[in-house]
Amino acid sequence: MGGNTMSTQVSDPCTIVIFGASGDLTSRKLMPALFSLYLKDRLPKKFNIIGYTRRDWNDEVFRQTMQKSIEEHMDFDEIADGWKRFVPHLHHIHGGLTDAEDYQHLHSALPKFEKGAWNRLYYLAVPPRFFTDIVSGLSESSMTDQNGAWRRIVIEKPFGSDLDSARKLNEALHDHLDESQIYRIDHYLGKETVQNVLVFRFANTIFEPIWNRNYIEHIQITVAEEVGVGHRAGYYDGVGVIKDMFQNHLMQLLTLVAMEPPSTFEANALRNEKVKILNAIRQPSDMDLDDYLVRGQYRGYRDEEKVDPNSDTPTYAAIRFDIENWRWQGVPFFLRSGKRMAAKTTEIIIHFKRPPHVMFPLPEGYKISPNILALCIQPDEGIHLRFDAKVPDTAAEMRPVDMEFHYANNFGECAIPEAYERLLLDALIGDASLFTRSDEIEKAWALIDPFIDLPKGKKESKLEFYEPGSWGPAKAEALLGKVGRRWLRGCADVTSRSSTTQSGC
Ligand code: BG6
Repeated sequence: MGGNTMSTQVSDPCTIVIFGASGDLTSRKLMPALFSLYLKDRLPKKFNIIGYTRRDWNDEVFRQTMQKSIEEHMDFDEIADGWKRFVPHLHHIHGGLTDAEDYQHLHSALPKFEKGAWNRLYYLAVPPRFFTDIVSGLSESSMTDQNGAWRRIVIEKPFGSDLDSARKLNEALHDHLDESQIYRIDHYLGKETVQNVLVFRFANTIFEPIWNRNYIEHIQITVAEEVGVGHRAGYYDGVGVIKDMFQNHLMQLLTLVAMEPPSTFEANALRNEKVKILNAIRQPSDMDLDDYLVRGQYRGYRDEEKVDPNSDTPTYAAIRFDIENWRWQGVPFFLRSGKRMAAKTTEIIIHFKRPPHVMFPLPEGYKISPNILALCIQPDEGIHLRFDAKVPDTAAEMRPVDMEFHYANNFGECAIPEAYERLLLDALIGDASLFTRSDEIEKAWALIDPFIDLPKGKKESKLEFYEPGSWGPAKAEALLGKVGRRWLRGCADVTSRSSTTQSGC
């Protein structure tokens, strides 16, 4: 976003080395994103993509394997010519992740593909237990030295499993790399609609004056998935939704909604503001936990393959956060996320206050609906603003209606790119705005840890079961209910739009 993000093309020669190139991430996300950047002419004229694996592959096998994955994602007939031009840039190097000789081999093999001082991006698409091995292997064989060309690494989540491990990982990386060389991915920040939160807030004048405690009553962030854990149960069980989704994606969404406007559109300016918000979040005491946390597990989760039959891993959580600063005092933020829920949706709801005085002759008990602004991140990317309108041919009957913006209608000609496309391009350009800084990661863990390491007895007592295909456990409704609110759908929920009195047309 910041820095030189306005540029969409990389010019200097570059080698991209993918560790874990035989894995799912490379075939599903990285290769399609790189190929798409190539088709858009955004990669440098001179580039190599090196798949580094322990497989008994050669260039040819690597290329064919990547082609197969591209065929699954794109209409191959349409892009066959482009692929023919792209594929000579792909090479395979055989090697492991832990032995010094393998790094020496990589060190001597890479220059054969480069003519002079090429930049290098090392992408760690591997399980986290290999992060430090790879970084020290690269560093000890001088492959992170920046002599006339940059060396950057991209790291996938999970970045640590709690504050302590995240700190240790940061320290281990900082032993070999400068923070400016480290790009920690949170793929939510690569989503167009997530980036649009800042454009919406700071490129328009009408919202910012009301974006505070004077007008906003509370804020909800929902990241719901229809899928269960599926084949990722081996990773997921014991980790759960709070580590998997809250520490990273949901906290990122919260900071973008709550942060102050940075003075420049530059990576550190943006990240400083995000960290300020994390620092202002109040940590609830053990006593308040019942008002701040609901943990859930979908029925049937314990029967899934590779899941412990007694697992207390939460697949759903709802958490309340309070930000103690001038702008947000008294405005609770309610966050929820879960698997096997009723619909896949990611949305941010800004719930405004009701009018202070109502002059209309309304039926007994009728309450004017509050204005709702829904930032719809996915799947139907857009923005909805809900307000009350007068029903025609009635005295003063009102009904909430939506003013809607949909990316598909307004930017139909511009396909929304995959998050990885933006992130890979930014890492190549050297813009770290959409990547998480070390202090941001640690602060987010510090906030999240107490919701995972619950006081004795709380963990078991706080696991609520919910039906697959539902909106989560009833207790999550109660979490909002006891403070006079309810969970809302702002992006696709037609039913909640109807008001309580509807005698009009
Ligand atoms: C990942 C989590 O980071 O995000 C997954 O590990 C989750 O469990 C995924 O399914 C959701 O991403 P998206 O882009 O589909 O909302």
